[in-house]
Amino acid sequence: MDEISLEVSKRRDRGRVADYIPALARVDPSQFGLAVFTTDGQLFSSGDAHVAFSIQSISKVFSLTMALGSIGDSLWRRVGREPSGNSFNSIVLLEHEKGIPRNPFINPGALVVTDVLLSSLAPRETIGEILQFMRVLSGSEQILVDPGVASAEKATGFRNIAHANFLKSCGNLLSPPEHVLGVYFHQCAIAMDCTQLARAGGFLAAAGRNPTTGLSVVSAEKARCINSLMMTCGHYDGSGDFAFRVGLPSKSGVGGGILAVVPGVASVVAWSPGLNTQGNSALGIAALEMLARRMNWSVF
Ligand code: DON
Repeated sequence: MDEISLEVSKRRDRGRVADYIPALARVDPSQFGLAVFTTDGQLFSSGDAHVAFSIQSISKVFSLTMALGSIGDSLWRRVGREPSGNSFNSIVLLEHEKGIPRNPFINPGALVVTDVLLSSLAPRETIGEILQFMRVLSGSEQILVDPGVASAEKATGFRNIAHANFLKSCGNLLSPPEHVLGVYFHQCAIAMDCTQLARAGGFLAAAGRNPTTGLSVVSAEKARCINSLMMTCGHYDGSGDFAFRVGLPSKSGVGGGILAVVPGVASVVAWSPGLNTQGNSALGIAALEMLARRMNWSVF
């Protein structure tokens, strides 16, 4: 892992840091962190693995896990399971497909998932539940929402607002759009470091059980379903290329983090803030490609 950190630190093709909000635009692009958490509970890390970053769309994996735990397979009446071939915030498909988003990882899909979480709780409690879920999974009480990021998401979230209103007009949001958006903006603004996130994602590598506590988070079957969606949809229109280069289920976020799963072996988080044109971490992908090759980690 240290060799990989050193190699990527020399790379010039670092991509561009997300600049739609100042809090992300300010992040130092030279940072790189890597963490591996094995299914037998060992944690390895390298580089800036203890620097917290905005998890952004990686939160969609955890909100999906909670929604599947709460309503099970009936979720699939409201969200599809196909890759979109479009960017994460693309609006074109939603009208064609009558308000049923292609998958839970594009923004409209994640909004429907968040709406499921809101069905039995108020917005503030729902944010609290998501945060508590991340704290329990990572074994770290210090995890917080960055309030500056959350309010900036709201101030600039015109596309998400459009998605939520469109979903509502199709009858695929039960709560008021502003409640769903409020929770969604907060879940995106959760700050975690590579080691915390690798621990939190451990259950996906360990057939649904948290490797630290041994407790079941979801059934093995559900963990397999979530991994399959990460493989086909986790990098938006970059999902095919990621499968080709790395071959592991994984989910990216515009904060520059990527959570990858080696089923039965480990969860891995790579973080570097510079993004490629699809909004996925350029060096994060490069590092995961190197790690997967050296360890012979691939589901193929
Ligand atoms: O919804 C948004 O626009 C962002 N807060 C999250 C997007 C994101 O991380 C997409 N990922 N690559």
